[in-house]
Amino acid sequence: MKKKLYINGEWHESEQYIDLHSPYLKEKIAEIPQASNEQVNFAIDAAYKKREAMARLTAYERAEILEKLVSLLRENRLKAAEILSLEAAKPIKFALSEIDRTIETYKFAAEEAKRLTGEMIPLDAAKNGANRFGYTIEQPLGVIGAITPFNFPQNLVAHKVGPAIASGNPIVLKPASQTPLSALFLAELMDQTALPKGAFNVIIGSGRTVGDTLVTSEKVKMITFTGSPAVGIGIRNKAGLKRVALELGSNAGLIIDKNVDLSQIVPKCVNGAFSNQGQVCISLQRTYVIDELFDEFIEQFTNATKQLVIGNPLAETTDISAMINPNEQERALSWVQEAVENGAKIVTGGNIKNGVFMPTILTNVDPTLKVSCQEVFAPIVVVNSISSVEEGIAAINNSNYGLQAGIFTNDIQTAFKASKEFEVGGVMINDIPTYRVDQMPYGGVKESGTGKEGLKYAIHEMTETKLVVWNQL
Ligand code: SIN
Repeated sequence: MKKKLYINGEWHESEQYIDLHSPYLKEKIAEIPQASNEQVNFAIDAAYKKREAMARLTAYERAEILEKLVSLLRENRLKAAEILSLEAAKPIKFALSEIDRTIETYKFAAEEAKRLTGEMIPLDAAKNGANRFGYTIEQPLGVIGAITPFNFPQNLVAHKVGPAIASGNPIVLKPASQTPLSALFLAELMDQTALPKGAFNVIIGSGRTVGDTLVTSEKVKMITFTGSPAVGIGIRNKAGLKRVALELGSNAGLIIDKNVDLSQIVPKCVNGAFSNQGQVCISLQRTYVIDELFDEFIEQFTNATKQLVIGNPLAETTDISAMINPNEQERALSWVQEAVENGAKIVTGGNIKNGVFMPTILTNVDPTLKVSCQEVFAPIVVVNSISSVEEGIAAINNSNYGLQAGIFTNDIQTAFKASKEFEVGGVMINDIPTYRVDQMPYGGVKESGTGKEGLKYAIHEMTETKLVVWNQL
């Protein structure tokens, strides 16, 4: 029940603890240590001292460490999912699929560790390049500070820890205060690998004590953060010359063009809008349906949404459970109220029942309302009708965010147009914007962030490219 911090390969008590409650059952599930400033610096120092040991590991050794983690996660799949489900209220079927993705993410990291290469540079292509040849090597950057969110407590940690180890960097991880148990469980597993002790540390605490110390420490070379734009921008402002990768969410949009088969599309939309209670950076938040299909889509979408099973996240059949905390539920409710006061219509949901925010479909929503123009991070989806795909593209681009967007269409020219014109980091043709597998490049434009995840791409962010030039005398 009383947890410890994982620093320098050992478990440490703290002077201060806070109680952690499960979001659905509301019962106390653990006492969580809050790292002091000294403990944060101790973790940073421990990681800093392991830079050389990490840089000396061969690609084979780095891959073996990650493969060992993969096999430990496979052995502990159910336990890892139950911890995650309990602390995040993620329905167990989605928690299990998150653990499966996590396993795949570390597996990709192990594979990428063996593919980490530089490139030959044809120096003699320049007038002054004769008799020389050059190549680049990718060297580890140094201590990586990873700050992770509550919505994917294992897989979004894997997206930072996996590439850091694959590229030979030590890590200090600060998991979200609401979901520290998954990170501490990861530390238990990591402890059983051959990773040098001190190269992986888990510290928990407030953004002010832990986050700020990580972000401002001269010994930390990069911050990789997933979370809100406000915090991300604050990190960038404080980070000085550190490298910073930011995944900051969105209000992801989808267009449904004419002549498509709604029976295939609707289940995807239900999943995209409501899985993990909509607390996903690429959750389907804005749907633009061509006029002629609008009524039919609303009917099928509403019927399918009403079939969702609401309740205890640990029950096998549950699709939707509580959001991460009551304040967030109240915030989401006030956004729905604002929409209704300004002419939106609630088709289903729009209320909290037995502690769960009900999956909500809204229509006739003005784009300036919070449920449309801000990141809603709740099981709420806006569906508006459009008279043309052009109108849909303009509506999707009318956003401060740009992470992923989708379009269902049978017209190849329309698909090309959308892929060219959507102002986002990733375009999904004939899929929802929520589609993600873990090796693909993932990252947004505008206020959705900077830098890319996806193992190969994240590894590139965590290495320094060094040039070597040989002169043939
Ligand atoms: C996110 O919410 O940023 C991650 C979504 C995912 O990995 O599926």
